[in-house]
Amino acid sequence: VRPRDLLGRRVLVTAGGTREPLDPVRFIGNRSSGRQGVAIAAAAAARGAEVVLVAAHLEIPAPQGVTVREVGTARELRETVLAEGATADVVVMAAAVADYRPETVADAKIKKEAQGEELVLRLVRNPDILSELTATPGRDGRTVIGFAAETEPDRDALLALGRAKAARKGVDLLVVNRVGWTEGFATESNAIVVVSKGGDIVTEASGSKRQVADAILDLLP
Ligand code: C5P
Repeated sequence: VRPRDLLGRRVLVTAGGTREPLDPVRFIGNRSSGRQGVAIAAAAAARGAEVVLVAAHLEIPAPQGVTVREVGTARELRETVLAEGATADVVVMAAAVADYRPETVADAKIKKEAQGEELVLRLVRNPDILSELTATPGRDGRTVIGFAAETEPDRDALLALGRAKAARKGVDLLVVNRVGWTEGFATESNAIVVVSKGGDIVTEASGSKRQVADAILDLLP
């Protein structure tokens, strides 16, 4: 049993994957199930934290004992994270946020009869929520943790991507996580390497997503 070492701390966790609508019935999404973020929220609550879970299309139920804020798109997730992030002691951005969204959303279903043999979608960049969050002041001693889900097979190259991302996003810790057709997303287990803002490897963990969650929370000051 772990101690209730997060008693009294406000922990904000994002989980799942955003969906960007194309028309009233279609979206562009990703395969994040929300399992790792949900495990972090559950672990933090079990360790005594007051947890807000920003949930984007979870494939599993949210844990008991946490406040859930449901969001759909990256822009909705941004609003909620920036509002809740102001009073959080810890922010963990485990959600897979769409980097791009369709430039226009059709108000009626897009019809193949009208489109013909090709349909060209124009996408525009979504705001980078983590970078925005770390650029705005929060509570004293706030810890911001980002995730990097990458398909890069080579460990050194994967770590290099993670180090660059930690610096670029201004996070305190970055959890590097290999994902692919069969790894990372939607699975029950995970393997991670955590790098600091300065690029040092601070921990490595593998096992159930709950074990990985506790290993990440163990790093909090
Ligand atoms: O750049 P990349 O998408 O790999 O960064 C991943 C990290 O940044 C995750 O923690 C994710 O939640 C966050 N992110 C974000 N806003 C975006 C895209 C990703 O905050 N538009």
